[in-house]
Amino acid sequence: MAASARPLVIDTDPGIDDALAILLALASPEVDLRLVTTVHGNVELPQTTDNALRVLHLAGRSDVPVAAGAAESLVFPQPERAGHVHGVTGLGGVQLPPSPAALDPRPAVVALAELLMASEEPVTVAAIGPWTNVALLLATYPEAAERIDRLVLMGGSAGRGGNVTAAAEFNVWSDPEAAARVLGSTVPTVLVGLDVTLPTVLGEEGIARFAAAGPVGATAASVLQQYLDHARTAYGTPGVVVHDALALTEAIVPGTLGTVRRDVVVDTGGGPSRGQTLVDRRAVSDAPTAVDVAETVDSAAAVEFLVSRLAGLAERVG
Ligand code: RIB
Ligand code: CA
Repeated sequence: MAASARPLVIDTDPGIDDALAILLALASPEVDLRLVTTVHGNVELPQTTDNALRVLHLAGRSDVPVAAGAAESLVFPQPERAGHVHGVTGLGGVQLPPSPAALDPRPAVVALAELLMASEEPVTVAAIGPWTNVALLLATYPEAAERIDRLVLMGGSAGRGGNVTAAAEFNVWSDPEAAARVLGSTVPTVLVGLDVTLPTVLGEEGIARFAAAGPVGATAASVLQQYLDHARTAYGTPGVVVHDALALTEAIVPGTLGTVRRDVVVDTGGGPSRGQTLVDRRAVSDAPTAVDVAETVDSAAAVEFLVSRLAGLAERVG
């Protein structure tokens, strides 16, 4: 591990793009993945947790602790999972070898709080599932939350509408109350939403490159296959939007995305726009609760970064 590698925690609901994001972090010397916390989302918590363990084991990193978090949203049950996108197991129907590692017995929020309080270096937290665990951390251990150097959130949308409803992006829609709590905090936060993830499409050529680099790459490509098939059917595109991998790219290389400080609120009502993130783009905000909203991306460069890093990991792990 590079001496200057920054401590990183990933809170995740694997999830096909989550799996790629975790592999990307493991492939990147700029960061040191210290903990993975799991949350309900794409599939149920037991499955997201088992998937996280299996993805780490696939990359030879079952040493990274995994702690399970919230099984449900804060207030209202999440209406539906995303098995139709990620497969019933959450990894595109691919059965990865089981991990030999035991689950960290601590609840995710406790494991995260203890890591933050003990770390002498600034910790980056990337939340790429519903933000329920992050909201619980803010409420339960505010002194630990204050020690987050940078919170990189995958979710929301400034001007691209939603992907699970016309108004709402999946992670925010899954727990709007948690999203409102998190976006209303003063933790330094980057919001990586659909505005920058939807244009960033991983195509078949890129997938083929890391698939050919070694068994880990080939397995990652097989996990992606269902995502690819869904994209072709649903959107007619020969590529996949790997939302979470772009958020991790920003966590790994700060400044990858062009951001503007904006005031952001979440619709927590019960109407048709529930879960919408209302980003005030009329002005640059200086409010302490303002969020660095990602508004511009070099999608080709981001895809190349992902492909080259995954290929490198596959070559190293074998
Ligand atoms: O809207 C995209 C987000 O929802 C990603 O995190 C994906 O994994 C799903 O959870
Ligand atoms: Ca996710």
